[in-house]
Amino acid sequence: MIAVIPAPAAATGQAAPEWKRICRIDEIPPLGSRVVKPQGKPAIAVFRTADDRVFALHDHCPHKGGPLSQGIVHGTRVTCPLHGWNIGLDDGQAVAPDVGHCGSFAVKVEAGVVWLAV
Ligand code: FES
Repeated sequence: MIAVIPAPAAATGQAAPEWKRICRIDEIPPLGSRVVKPQGKPAIAVFRTADDRVFALHDHCPHKGGPLSQGIVHGTRVTCPLHGWNIGLDDGQAVAPDVGHCGSFAVKVEAGVVWLAV
C-alpha cells in the first residue's frame, strides 16, 4: 500500500526524489517505527500503522525535539514520548491546540519493501 505519492517532478518544477530502499515492511512492527539516518541529514522515523500503511517524519518533535520514533502510534498519529503532543503522520502537523510542524517525506511500499524519498 502506498501512503504518500510524490507529485510528478514536472508538476512541481523540482527534481524527482531519489527513492532509497529502507527495509521489508515486516521489519517494522505494527504501530512501531524504524529510524533512518541519511548521511549528513536529520534522522527520519518511518512508521507503520495497524493497517500496514507507512509514513515518514523527521524524528524530531516540533515542540522540544522529542524522538517521535519512540512515541505511541495510534491511527494516523503519533504521540510524542516527552510531553504528549500528537503529530499527524500524514503531514507532520501538530494536532490542535498544539501548533507546529515537522518535516514529512514520501514513502511507499512495493512488493513488501519500504521505499523512502530523500
Ligand atoms: S518534545 Fe514532543 S511533546 Fe514536547
